[in-house]
Amino acid sequence: MKILVIGSGGREYAIGLALSKDPAVEKIWFAPGNGATDTLGENLSLAEYEELAAFAKEKGIDLTIVGPEAPLVGGIVDVFEKEGLTIFGPSAQAAQLEGSKIFMKNFLARHNIPTARYLETDSVDKAERFIESLEAPIVVKADGLCAGKGVIIAPTKDEAKEAARGMLSGEAFGEAGSRIVVEEFLDGYELSVFAVCDGKEYVVLPAAQDHKRLLDGDRGPNTGGMGAYAPTPLIDETLYGKLDERVIRPTLAGMEKEGMPFKGVLFIGVMVVGGEPYILEYNVRFGDPECEVLMPLLKSPASELFYKAATGRLSEARIAFHDRYAVGVVMASKNYPYKSSEPAEIIVDDIHHEDLAANSYIAYAGVSRGDDGKLYATGGRVLVCVGLGDSIREARDRAYMLVGQVHFAGKQCRTDIAYQALQE
Ligand code: AMP
Ligand code: GLY
Repeated sequence: MKILVIGSGGREYAIGLALSKDPAVEKIWFAPGNGATDTLGENLSLAEYEELAAFAKEKGIDLTIVGPEAPLVGGIVDVFEKEGLTIFGPSAQAAQLEGSKIFMKNFLARHNIPTARYLETDSVDKAERFIESLEAPIVVKADGLCAGKGVIIAPTKDEAKEAARGMLSGEAFGEAGSRIVVEEFLDGYELSVFAVCDGKEYVVLPAAQDHKRLLDGDRGPNTGGMGAYAPTPLIDETLYGKLDERVIRPTLAGMEKEGMPFKGVLFIGVMVVGGEPYILEYNVRFGDPECEVLMPLLKSPASELFYKAATGRLSEARIAFHDRYAVGVVMASKNYPYKSSEPAEIIVDDIHHEDLAANSYIAYAGVSRGDDGKLYATGGRVLVCVGLGDSIREARDRAYMLVGQVHFAGKQCRTDIAYQALQE
């Protein structure tokens, strides 16, 4: 099978690595890929959807997998499908679940799916009145895509009003903030639940937990995610059952009924409050860094999961996961998440420890290959050190052992990934 992977992050590297180990996969292309994906396949500099579709046709690519949300919301799946190509990901219409917070919240309301109480509005007055009716802290969200920055958790009503005014004036996020969602704050713990969907059927992957804040103990600014682990013990059969019955099934049935069957990865951001699941958000793609810990847990061939889902035949697929744990620690550059950093050469020590070599890997993300052939840290989140083990503790220890082998100027990482699973 010839496969094209769209994207350039650690998520796409992890998908590519899983595919590269799959005997059914003949060749992988990445568009655009990064400075390390060229060790797994070939990087392409094409960016226009039509150009990519023409390339896929010309090369006889059997399957295209889309990593990030922007091309999905931008309609890449529609362009490929119009050309009769097989592509894994939702249509632009279905991708509104992530592309518009208002679409998502109204969809949840229409289908009685539990979520925080909210108001959607483009009026400062209405936003302020609703803010007055809530207890602080209060959450204010820009409607459109803001690269993970469009959510403000305001500690006081005044700050919530200020955030709402900033967004609605267009100052904070431009057009993406011209409509907003104001909602009540949910106090609980967060889970990342992924369902791979083919439009009708779905497979739920082991639940993961991300660590969004920059610093240990969940302090500091929000980031794209500083580390993840899976499966998390913070979910049990009862909670899986509630999610299945109250969230995943009604979502897929609702999308189908509304004429936009969901195909691809439904990423459900769940807040668990008093044992009950509430939906914080939907994303229409794998989480990053969650994908980097989920891919090595997949026991069955990666190509089968994606291909069967893309062709509406998930019920025929034999999907299995290793009975193990994975912990991923993000190593970020010096100024992340505030501003970019000087490129820094990455040096990875030789790993002599057999046990570590066999049970860990590096998912490369914000890296470029220099003219000197060396690898440089050029992005915010540079790479993810992933450890595998028979317990979360063992996986965590291996991930941090690997972190100790990786060097670049200004590197930073959290030291407490998976702490919620290792308490007591
Ligand atoms: P979102 O992009 O909507 O997931 O929001 C980003 C992050 O903000 C989430 O991962 C949560 O940590 C936090 N968040 C969003 N909405 C709420 C809420 N209603 N209550 C508490 N935290 C929230
Ligand atoms: N790790 C969270 C995300 O990918 O949105």
